[in-house]
Amino acid sequence: MSLSFEGQVALVTGAGAGLGRAYALDLAKRGAKVVVNDLGGDPHGQGENRAAAQKVVDEIKAAGGEATPNYDSVASYDGGFNIVKTAIDAYGRLDVVICNAGILRDIAFHNMSEEDWDKVFAVHIKGSFTVLRAAWPVFRQQSYGRVILTTSSSGIYGQFGQANYGAAKTAMLGLMNVLKQEGAKYNVNVNTIAPVAGTRLTQTVMPAEMVEKLVPEMVVPAVTYMVSKECQDSGLIIEAGAGNFNRAAIVKGPGIRPGMDELKSAEWCQENWAAITSLEGAEPMWRTGQTMKEYLASKT
Ligand SMILES: NC(=O)c1ccc[n+]([C@@H]2O[C@H](COP(=O)([O-])OP(=O)(O)OC[C@H]3O[C@@H](n4cnc5c(N)ncnc54)[C@H](O)[C@@H]3O)[C@@H](O)[C@H]2O)c1
Repeated sequence: MSLSFEGQVALVTGAGAGLGRAYALDLAKRGAKVVVNDLGGDPHGQGENRAAAQKVVDEIKAAGGEATPNYDSVASYDGGFNIVKTAIDAYGRLDVVICNAGILRDIAFHNMSEEDWDKVFAVHIKGSFTVLRAAWPVFRQQSYGRVILTTSSSGIYGQFGQANYGAAKTAMLGLMNVLKQEGAKYNVNVNTIAPVAGTRLTQTVMPAEMVEKLVPEMVVPAVTYMVSKECQDSGLIIEAGAGNFNRAAIVKGPGIRPGMDELKSAEWCQENWAAITSLEGAEPMWRTGQTMKEYLASKT
């Protein structure tokens, strides 16, 4: 059965190019009315250009779809508010938000400036906060919402030269882990995509033939499914791209529970390190404190 977005409104940030453009085109093709947000700056977050968002809106309209451009920066609180307001003013509701806008300022940590740090955090993590903070009351009122945050293998596993970007991308997981709980009662699902695609962001790190081969359309199916009403999952990290789809997760190992009767020493930890660090039987968790009762009850 095909996944339809008829009657739904989707907002994609950074949709003037790369992955965001591909998400916007697919959702529009499936009947969604789409707000195409893009500031139109360069990959390092400098400058702006309205042509990027406008071009994608033109493409959607040429294919028979409905779309409205927005040129605000996600990095400002007012910008986030205006982006959501564009959707409400144009279409009267908002069902899907894909926080995708991104920049890179790669540099080895010992050379990283405060500006390199702040700009990357402003676009990725604050830029997700601003848009979602504005969308959240709408979702609650509708009792419906589908959210995608964008992380990266750099944020999940680490990548040399990306302390700013990796940390901001890991922060997406923290944001998801809280919002999945706060949204659950209102049928607001929050999932995270870790994409791999040849785009202008990756063309500096990938050989040209790989950039050409790894088209963003290889990521799109995972995102489109996760923002559909058919997908009931929330709190997942999905890696997609280059012909691959898989789940990644932060898991908790079983560890050992000697109880609280006697304080343990560093030497005790050293002796038991293999058991403490073992991930055999590790499980993903839904919330913090989930195992606190077990801790308090465990004696042996
Ligand atoms: N391409 C990959 O392999 C890859 C891997 C991991 C994560 N990502 C993430 O995927 C997302 C999309 O990246 P992409 O590869 O398509 O790059 P891209 O440069 O093609 O697209 C990013 C878009 O975001 C826009 N943007 C930047 N700052 C903005 C702001 N302040 N407000 C509004 N729009 C802004 C840019 O103008 C650009 O059009 C990013 O969050 C990126 O970090 C990409």
